[in-house]
Amino acid sequence: AGLAGPRLLGRAAATGELLTSEVPLPAPFQVPLPLPAVLRPVARDSGADHYEIVQRPATAEILPGLRTPIWGYQGTFPGPTIESRRGRTAIVRHRNELLVPTVVHLHGGRTPPESDGYTTDLVLPAGGWRATHSGMLDPDAKVTRGVRDYVYPLRQRAATLWYHDHRMDFTGPAVHRGLAGFHIVRDAEEDALPLPRGERELPLMITDRAFAADGSMRYPSRDSTLSTVPGVEEPYVAGVLGDVVLVNGAPWPIAEVSATRHRLRVLNASNARRYDLALDPPPPGGPAFTQIGSDQGLLDAPRAHDHLPIAPAERYDLVVDFGRYPVGTEVTLLNRTGSGSTAYVMRFRVARRGAEDSHIPDRLSVLEPLNRTQAGVTREFSFRGAPSGDGHGWLIGGQPYSPSRIDARPRLGDVEVWRFVADLHHPIHLHLVQFRVLSRGGREPGPFDAGLKDTVDLRPGEAVEVIARFDGYRGRYMFHCHNAEHEDMGMMANFETL
Ligand code: C2O
Ligand code: CU
Repeated sequence: AGLAGPRLLGRAAATGELLTSEVPLPAPFQVPLPLPAVLRPVARDSGADHYEIVQRPATAEILPGLRTPIWGYQGTFPGPTIESRRGRTAIVRHRNELLVPTVVHLHGGRTPPESDGYTTDLVLPAGGWRATHSGMLDPDAKVTRGVRDYVYPLRQRAATLWYHDHRMDFTGPAVHRGLAGFHIVRDAEEDALPLPRGERELPLMITDRAFAADGSMRYPSRDSTLSTVPGVEEPYVAGVLGDVVLVNGAPWPIAEVSATRHRLRVLNASNARRYDLALDPPPPGGPAFTQIGSDQGLLDAPRAHDHLPIAPAERYDLVVDFGRYPVGTEVTLLNRTGSGSTAYVMRFRVARRGAEDSHIPDRLSVLEPLNRTQAGVTREFSFRGAPSGDGHGWLIGGQPYSPSRIDARPRLGDVEVWRFVADLHHPIHLHLVQFRVLSRGGREPGPFDAGLKDTVDLRPGEAVEVIARFDGYRGRYMFHCHNAEHEDMGMMANFETL
């Protein structure tokens, strides 16, 4: 085993991982920041809010003047935002009007297994599909045709969740074409805090793409109809990266803000790109960002950061006080790990004064203490490239993904420590559970590891321990690398709560 074999590295180098656009890139900071529409329930009853989403092909004007084919929830990218209350069930009926099967996963949701978007629980296209690859189906898969009702009890604290496609081997291309949206959970605990709200609360979904001359988003993969494309190289060491940074589907947008505190719900929905966010100019008088929440909601207390690394699928809930800048200032959200066109993300223009009505309390929430002494079991999983010559690109514990293999069976309600070791960067996501980072590189958790998380970024050669209570529901769930190309190339496994 060891690092990705020379063959993989050679292939990736030959095909190029950073895709560049074949069209001239527009000037940045021209397009106003779009906010995804909030989806209205089609019905509400005492038990649940009912929603309907159609997954369909559409065309979007992402770069000004260019028509880009997408796959969209409701035909939009990002999909519409769903807003829910803690403890109130949301039932989302998805109708698949695409030409390929889909699977919907609510990322960060504490969801019963039959609605979690298990990777082989396909929704076949409503218009029919010739299932030439039915052999890949898992005998336990629950396949539906056309529609499926996903039931989300949402017995969980307020948090920025998101939903996206999760089909086995094809998550990367499907999400890349646009199948991703926010699902925000709110609750009374958070409502009681004087945090910025209303138009001072902005969901920011960050992705990167490259555009072909015909307007399509470049994705170097097997094609969408499952046919084999001769000559297409599949393994990518870095995953698919583009040269255009989109926020809520717009290239390097600009948002006008008042000189007041704003809450930014930042989601990295990129297939593979990590960002290291910073503000330019930095605000006078202290760090740019006050982190109030992580993947799974509020921290116990706010933390200040002057920059913020964010890996695929992670969320950070931040407050930025634009009141520290003079009116008229243009503040750029930078990506310190990018270069050229990927070195910046978006811009804020501090357009006017505003009455400040928020502040950040010193105590935000109370988190259940979890410590090593509560854990009955410690498990270890390695995340590594396949040895050269193996047909799969990426492995967990030396094995590529199989729906029929269960690698861990925690008993419902038990606390366990899971130790992860990595060859390269891998953002590791566990379905169902909320975990805390217990150690990183043999030391205390890092400055960005606070709070309850569902995705943790491993760095090359580093071991990370997380601790979680495996409660909620019995059943089969996945855990995997959230670099979508690594995931599709085998870096996924199952656990089952008993
Ligand atoms: Cu965001 Cu298993 O996924
Ligand atoms: Cu990975």
